Amino acid sequence: MSTTLFNLQRDHIAHLQQAYSDILTNHGFDSLAIYSGHASVYFADDHAPPFQTYGHFMHWVGLADVQHSWLIIQPEKRPQLYLYAPADFWHLPTHLPEEPWVEAFDVHLCSDKISPPLSGNTAIIGDIERLATSAQLALKADIHPEPVVKALDELRLFKTPYEITCIREANRLAIAGHQATQAAFIGAAGELDIQLAYLAASRQRESNVPYQNIIGLNEHAGVLHYQHYDLHAPKQRYSLLVDAGRRFRGYCADITRTYAGPDAPAAFGELVTAMKVLKDELVKGVAPGVSFVALHEQMHHHLGEILVANDVFKGTAEQAVAEGVTRAFCPHGLGHSLGLQVHDVAGLRHPDGTPAPAPEQHPALRLTRTLRPGMVVTIEPGLYFIAMLLAPLRNTSLPINWSLVDQLSSCGGIRIEDNVAVTESGFDNLTP
Ligand code: GLY
Ligand code: MN
Ligand code: MN
Repeated sequence: MSTTLFNLQRDHIAHLQQAYSDILTNHGFDSLAIYSGHASVYFADDHAPPFQTYGHFMHWVGLADVQHSWLIIQPEKRPQLYLYAPADFWHLPTHLPEEPWVEAFDVHLCSDKISPPLSGNTAIIGDIERLATSAQLALKADIHPEPVVKALDELRLFKTPYEITCIREANRLAIAGHQATQAAFIGAAGELDIQLAYLAASRQRESNVPYQNIIGLNEHAGVLHYQHYDLHAPKQRYSLLVDAGRRFRGYCADITRTYAGPDAPAAFGELVTAMKVLKDELVKGVAPGVSFVALHEQMHHHLGEILVANDVFKGTAEQAVAEGVTRAFCPHGLGHSLGLQVHDVAGLRHPDGTPAPAPEQHPALRLTRTLRPGMVVTIEPGLYFIAMLLAPLRNTSLPINWSLVDQLSSCGGIRIEDNVAVTESGFDNLTP
């Protein structure tokens, strides 16, 4: 590990120790037990789906696949990690990395699935519902005390320099995958082969991706969370949208790129260029004190301008926004908080923990906060040709260029997504 990352992680752990001490003391707890969680097998089967460690556990232990383990945090004491490490000849035993957190903890390797040792006034957080001991634990401890969980979520919203470095590294690894998808698209590959090229170049197996990669050719680029990988390449290559990530020490990259193919109408290539320019413009708008809702509204204003400039809408940008045209072309939010979870915690709250829901007109927006240094957000403007959303507009007199829209429909849509840290003076784009 580089000295820098080593030192940064040591500082990150020290920061967590102080912050957790304050939170526990403020809420009258002597001790907090965090459960890693565990995967459940499919019904009537002995196989389980891929698993992801509980975020507050991962905040300390940057491993995304720890199961059946407990972490005990007490003010002024070394963290106690009870790591499930059974003597098991079917699997490789848990291997601890050479990282500072291991030195800062007392690590107890447990051959059995243990119940955590609880002392004093204890809180427990994590998915304990399906544990056989959950009823007993509830008698001894406060389960998921909301004010504590909210305070810990708030802590997660603000990344330490170590966390930002991890997200930057996740981005670096993911971008290698994105470059391979572009090459595969030029080589006329189908969706599955593009996915495999991504996984190979970003050096990860599919069960480790932070979210299911979205790899959509042609119309599929307009399915927001497209979940299949066609085996065969289509004859016509209009477009490719790749929304694909990577983890580094638990931290996620969430990057989207869209490419115009050789069979796309020229107007599509021009729209892709305009959306890249818009993404860069919006990234430049990231700064402390900026309302993310206002930035989202700015995206809609610019989308209106793009629709007008590219002859998709023959009215004004203001009209396109006011009449809901831009919302039909882009139904999702500008972005979200990013961290140990792709859609990270505390995006729809005020700093005091009270709800800050998405505006009624923009229900899919996942972040309504005022930006502050240390936050990491995605900036992901989109423009899609989604028949279901455009259908209601067809029965209106709105000046939409339907023949162009119909021509562009085979291209599906466009999304460009970068990951951006808020700094003291502005922004730091973590996506190379
Ligand atoms: N990859 C999911 C998203 O962009 O939010
Ligand atoms: Mn994404
Ligand atoms: Mn995203």
